[in-house]
Formats: sequence, C-alpha cells, structure tokens
Amino acid sequence: MGYFSSSVGRKFFMALTGLFLVVFLLVHLIANLTLFGGPDAFNAASHFMGTNPLIQIMQPVLALGFVAHIIMGIILEYKNMISRPIGYIKNNANANSKWTSRNMIVTGLMIFAFLFLHIINYFIPFKTTEIHNHYEFVVELFKNPIYTFIYVIAFILLGMHLMHGFQSSLTTTGIRNRKYQKCIEQMGVAYSIIIAIGFSSIALWFYFVN
Ligand code: HEM
Repeated sequence: MGYFSSSVGRKFFMALTGLFLVVFLLVHLIANLTLFGGPDAFNAASHFMGTNPLIQIMQPVLALGFVAHIIMGIILEYKNMISRPIGYIKNNANANSKWTSRNMIVTGLMIFAFLFLHIINYFIPFKTTEIHNHYEFVVELFKNPIYTFIYVIAFILLGMHLMHGFQSSLTTTGIRNRKYQKCIEQMGVAYSIIIAIGFSSIALWFYFVN
C-alpha cells in the first residue's frame, strides 16, 4: 500500500487503470459499430457480448477499473491542489502545458457524469428487463435531440481526455521512450480522434439519417 500512497505510485495506478479503459473503449466501439450493419448484425454482437463467459468475467473487473480510476483521479487532483504554490496561476499556463493536460479532472468528472446517465440508459434496462430487439432499443435514444447532444458533447470531452491520457499513461508506465516518442504521440492523437468520431458518428447517424 505504501507505493500507491506515494505520488509516483498514484500516477502509476492512474496510468494502468487508464490503459485498461483504453482497451475497453476500443472493444466497445467495435461492438457498437455493428449498429451500422443493421438489426441482425447488432443483435448478434449484443448477444455475444451478453453471453460470452470471458466478457461476463471482465464486467466486474471493468466496473472496478472505472471506480478505481475515478477515485484515484480525485485524490491525485486534491493532493496536487493542496501542494500547489499560490503563484502558479500567474504562470503563463498555455505556454507551459496544454489545456487538455491541465484540465484532466474537469473532462474526467464530466465523462463520469455521462457514464452515470449512460448506465441508466442502457446497462440497467439490458440487465433488468427482457428486451427482444437490442438494436431498436439502442437507436431509439438517438431520436431525442437532447440525448444526442449530450452524448456527442461527452464523446468530444472523452476525446480531449484521451488526447492527454493516452500518451501520459505510456510515459508513466515507462513504455514511451525517446526513440518512440513521436510515434506514440501520433498514436495517441489518432486513437482519441477515432474514439470521439467513431462514437459520435453513431449518435449523429441515427439522429439525422436513420
Ligand atoms: C454511441 C455510443 C455508445 C453506445 C450506443 C453505447 C451502447 C451501450 C450499450 C447498449 C450498453 C449495454 C451493453 C450490455 O449490457 O450488454 C453499454 C454499456 C456500457 N457502456 Fe456504452 N455505448 C456508447 C458509448 C460509451 C462510452 C463513450 C463509454 C465510456 C466512456 C461507454 C461505457 C459503457 C460501460 C462502462 C458500459 C457497461 C459495461 C458493459 O456492458 O460493457 N459507452 N453501452
């Protein structure tokens, strides 16, 4: 426990849980993209995700990963806040760091709020009621302009969070080194854009086109 109560340990823990969530997001996006294939494709994917034993085992691990990442993020921000010298505000923040890296707690808490809504929208009804056509249930939400708007804003915030989080987690875990720095930065940018545009395209397609 000593290691994880140190500043380095906490950052390392954030990075590990963050990387785990990076993998989850990609799997979730790929499963959701089957919505473009129509009801049969998505219902089959949804059935697979809902019955595959490995996915079922991973669900509590995923919940734990999210909770741990969020709680540790709040602790990290709090510790930084109380140890930050007052003169910090006067620094030219834009010249020294990017907006995304300085506002991880802001984008993070907003994504957390979205997640809460999202679990109520989908996860709970899927687990507690008998839904025959998962496809219909999922796309129904995006007929509502308010939900579509909230979801797209959340995906943009998620993209911003990942823009810093992806490469930062690889630096902290030591995977990023000087030789691959540029490549990992580019991968981080590409990943963040794919996630933000990928999820948004689903919401916007079913709102405007379908
Ligand atoms: C267009 C975008 C999205 C759609 C249509 C969508 C759809 C769904 C659906 C249908 C479920 C229920 C799956 C089941 O229980 O079988 C679900 C679960 C979940 N979603 Fe999303 N989702 C989207 C974006 C996101 C994003 C961006 C995140 C994370 C920031 C996220 C996090 C989760 C989590 C944590 C669960 C519960 C765990 C799981 O069932 O795998 N989703 N989503």
